[in-house]
Amino acid sequence: MPTKFYLTTPIYYVNGKPSIGHAYTTFVADTIARYQRMLGKEVEFLTGTDENSQKNVEAAAAAGREDDIQGYLDEMAALWQRTFDSLGITNTRFIRTTEADHHKAVEAFWKRVEAKGDIYKGTYEGLYCGKCEAFYTENDLEGGLCPFHKTKPDHIKEDNYFFALTKYRDALLEHIEKNPEFVQPKERRNEIVSYIKNFMTDVSVSRQTMKWGIPVPGDETHRLYVWFDALINYITGVGFATDEKKFDRFWPADLQLVGKDILKFHCALWPAMLMSAGLPLPKVVLAHGFFTVDGQKMSKSLGNVVDPVELSEQYSPDIIRYYAIRDIRLGDDGDFSHDRLRARYETDLANELGNLVHRVLTMTEKYTDAKVPEKAQGEILGAWQEYQQAMTDYRLTDALDIIWAVIRRTNQFIEQQQPWALAKLEEKKMLHDTLYVLLETLRHIAWMLWPFMPDTAEKMFTKLGLEVPKEFSQSVESAWVWGELKPGSGVEKGEPLFPRKE
Ligand code: MSP
Repeated sequence: MPTKFYLTTPIYYVNGKPSIGHAYTTFVADTIARYQRMLGKEVEFLTGTDENSQKNVEAAAAAGREDDIQGYLDEMAALWQRTFDSLGITNTRFIRTTEADHHKAVEAFWKRVEAKGDIYKGTYEGLYCGKCEAFYTENDLEGGLCPFHKTKPDHIKEDNYFFALTKYRDALLEHIEKNPEFVQPKERRNEIVSYIKNFMTDVSVSRQTMKWGIPVPGDETHRLYVWFDALINYITGVGFATDEKKFDRFWPADLQLVGKDILKFHCALWPAMLMSAGLPLPKVVLAHGFFTVDGQKMSKSLGNVVDPVELSEQYSPDIIRYYAIRDIRLGDDGDFSHDRLRARYETDLANELGNLVHRVLTMTEKYTDAKVPEKAQGEILGAWQEYQQAMTDYRLTDALDIIWAVIRRTNQFIEQQQPWALAKLEEKKMLHDTLYVLLETLRHIAWMLWPFMPDTAEKMFTKLGLEVPKEFSQSVESAWVWGELKPGSGVEKGEPLFPRKE
């Protein structure tokens, strides 16, 4: 059986349509999923929608659908799913927390935690931001306001069920200490350690005032706090309480991708819940940064929310994912800039990659009748090793830098060899050797590029006369051997990959 790899994105609220921020997390996850498949692993890739949130209920009401909340959720979930499909996302399951499977999993999970003695009844009195659906202490606030929404949190007092989160303080700290890869990147690790040590309290995990959401097992007068239910999606998604065989194979997750805004939930509450339920913890939680758009915070009120579908129609999903992953280093905050997107399109894609492919194929058509010439020696293994290391460490921006270094070197090689001069001088052997090296290098570039820009890579394979399914039926180890491109096979220049834009 092949090795497995299980990765997840956060599940998204459906109170609006996906923005470029949501698409970013999902693009990053898709890139990693594709790379892991390229290594021959059996990949489970989970994304989906977080539907038991008060935010969704409010959005349904605002749309005049308060009597048809489920109908509203169905439509919105379908919209998110369609969006991810149209962006070429290869998730293996799209989970919705209103699914029957999920309710089963939540119930089974709750019972375990309850049996462990980690649920108790108490009175919650404190600060609550309804927009975040999170509790805050005075310490968390900035000038008395929610740090994310800049609004005054409500003071609430309610009888709730509590989860004994603080019971796991030492165990969490020990786990993070012993497994330095658990929270990534490093800056986030310090942040979470400080939170666990100094600020973490038990959390209320039910509400009496809520009408939407999963009822607390055994006490229908309460609904579960949305985060307690939402986090469980990650195990529902691989069969917890419904398909034990699948669950045993895929859990724990190899990678859980989140934005840094929801780090605490994923690196404190979630692992403690798992410890309480006697389940293993995910291997890595990787938090990416937040980005602004053209220097401004993205917000509905500013009207600058970027729709990934519209932008993809203007460019293509490949180009958007290339830009976002190249320009915003995974883990850092950044800025999504329309000007830089355009500049990178013109420079990196049209001038460097597109031009390289076009030139090499034009010369092959001209000098060897569009046939791959006899094999010649070349070297690419060094780049593969660096690329693989970067991909293993989730340094996606570095991996693209490595691919672009190969592209630039290859463009320089053309300038150096001047195949047109070799043709004039009738230096056939040298001309053919040069063309072989160029074509074979394009094949390697296409392979390395595939997780990031699948359509572009597949077009490159086609131009090189390779069949996409056949290419991917071999292992990456055999693909990165030098000299796999078969002499005598036909190539076809076709349309340019990145035509100049008006
Ligand atoms: N439903 C919760 C997550 C539950 S997971 C068990 C939630 N949903 S959300 O719809 O608000 O999506 C949050 C995620 O979207 C962030 O964690 C982040 O991954 C992504 N982003 C949304 N806007 C973003 C930016 N402006 N920049 C980068 N990522 C952003 O929180």
